Amino acid sequence: MSKSLVIALPGNVLMAAKLAEETGAEIGRLDLRHFPDEETHLRFESDLRGRRVIFVCTLDRPDAKFLPLIFAAATARELGAARVGLVAPYLCYMRQDKRFADGEAVSAPIFAGEISRHFDWLITVDPHLHRLHTLSAIYKIPAQALHAAPLISAWIKREVPLPVVIGPDRESAQWAAQVAEDANAPFTILEKIRRGDRDVSVRLTDAARFEGHTPVLVDDIISTGRTMAETVSHLRGQGLDAPVCIGVHGVFAAGALEGLKAAGAGRIVTTNTISHVTNAIDISGLIADNMRTMP
Ligand code: R5P
Repeated sequence: MSKSLVIALPGNVLMAAKLAEETGAEIGRLDLRHFPDEETHLRFESDLRGRRVIFVCTLDRPDAKFLPLIFAAATARELGAARVGLVAPYLCYMRQDKRFADGEAVSAPIFAGEISRHFDWLITVDPHLHRLHTLSAIYKIPAQALHAAPLISAWIKREVPLPVVIGPDRESAQWAAQVAEDANAPFTILEKIRRGDRDVSVRLTDAARFEGHTPVLVDDIISTGRTMAETVSHLRGQGLDAPVCIGVHGVFAAGALEGLKAAGAGRIVTTNTISHVTNAIDISGLIADNMRTMP
């Protein structure tokens, strides 16, 4: 059978090139532009007939990316692709997984339904599984959730002297605890209260235990940065050193990076699931290893 074709949606060229190289796949060409009325025009410049086609599209700021992605997948199928897979290093719409207020959309299963309709499989990294325990709860296709924890731990071991790993809230415990264990570092989590999108407070009760350590905050997502910034201010107020802040996914809404720095953060580090100046941990090898196992 011919080699797989890896095709980048806009903004994913670097990741697609790494994945193609690491898996021995070919790069497929997709020309995508917008008409003056802002509708999408796309055209494949590679022959897809009989090929295993893998789209690479990280899904931060997803609304603008979604339609082109669906057009690409549906067209690939129509043009004869044998299989259509999706590598979405960051998977969106995983946090709105229940109706918090009357009348709200529960977007996670709606989004998952659309992706499941158009793709044969999905690979992502540390999706926000909290109330939902597995991707298969909402995705109806083979869907792999890979874990960045071992790569983050290796980075901490290399870069941080005497670390204490701190999760800003209970939801982060699943990521932070694994990272701490792999890095042989002590671990604690804080109590978080979120009153609004950008209104968050946290509390650490046993700061004295960690004097002399470098605090390393680990969370899955840095979005508004309020969770991390609040944690940083709190820890600094307790006399701890400037924390290293690690997010698996650096979404960084407007002002988030600046706010985090102003709060007194030390190094701010993310994986390259979303391209950003803070990327320091490469997850392409992890994804490539798992791409080989998908149909
Ligand atoms: C929450 O449940 C997540 O684990 C993160 O703590 C949260 O998404 C971070 O969001 P923000 O940066 O907007 O505080």
